[in-house]
Amino acid sequence: MVVAIDGPAGAGKSTVAKKVAEKIGALYLDTGAMYRAFTLYVLKNEVSLDNLTMIKHTLDNFELSITEDKVSVNGDDVTTAIREADVTANVSYISSLGFVRKKMVELQREMGKNKAIVVEGRDIGTVVFPDTPYKFYLDADIEERAKRRLNDEKIQKNVKNILQIKQTIKNRDIYDSSRTISPLKKADDAVYIDSTDKTVEEVCTFIINSIHEKTARSSWT
Ligand code: DC
Repeated sequence: MVVAIDGPAGAGKSTVAKKVAEKIGALYLDTGAMYRAFTLYVLKNEVSLDNLTMIKHTLDNFELSITEDKVSVNGDDVTTAIREADVTANVSYISSLGFVRKKMVELQREMGKNKAIVVEGRDIGTVVFPDTPYKFYLDADIEERAKRRLNDEKIQKNVKNILQIKQTIKNRDIYDSSRTISPLKKADDAVYIDSTDKTVEEVCTFIINSIHEKTARSSWT
């Protein structure tokens, strides 16, 4: 059983996906963290972003381990480092590369095999697990998303202001939804949720009720 939660930056996907996973006794996978981990690895290895051959080579040497609370690359704990500003600034570009997506999607499908798992990202319902009946597209207006990100950044002690964050989110949304391969978009059969005026608890309850309804409906037919 796969629950797919897609949506733009700052919509609350991680918070909601983690909580839903906990409540239904499923695993949780943050696919954005996978793209961030590879972006960090490229930057750390000082690979030129124009050099696709070197990026491919770097991908061949990239060993990822990801659990619900720890991300490691080639044995190094990068859980905090993948949230840094230089990673955020380059992750949309790195994740738009076809060969990078191919490898990540393979890993994601492998991790989702024979498990109950809640997976969050941008293309989970459209590309990675298109056959799952449990698809949600989580959105919120830009002001609210920027406010939420600002709170996260404060927790991580990154000094930023709301305007900077709003601009970064907007740029990433444009890049992520206009790339040629697997752009961010709502799957036709995903349930759209506007979380602007909703609490985390309300969104989670709504998702869990939808999952139960869908499961009940499919067991009648
Ligand atoms: O969820 P996040 O902000 O940590 O994701 C970082 C970037 O990774 C996001 O800007 C686009 C990319 N991404 C993607 O292309 N596909 C996914 N399934 C998840 C993230």
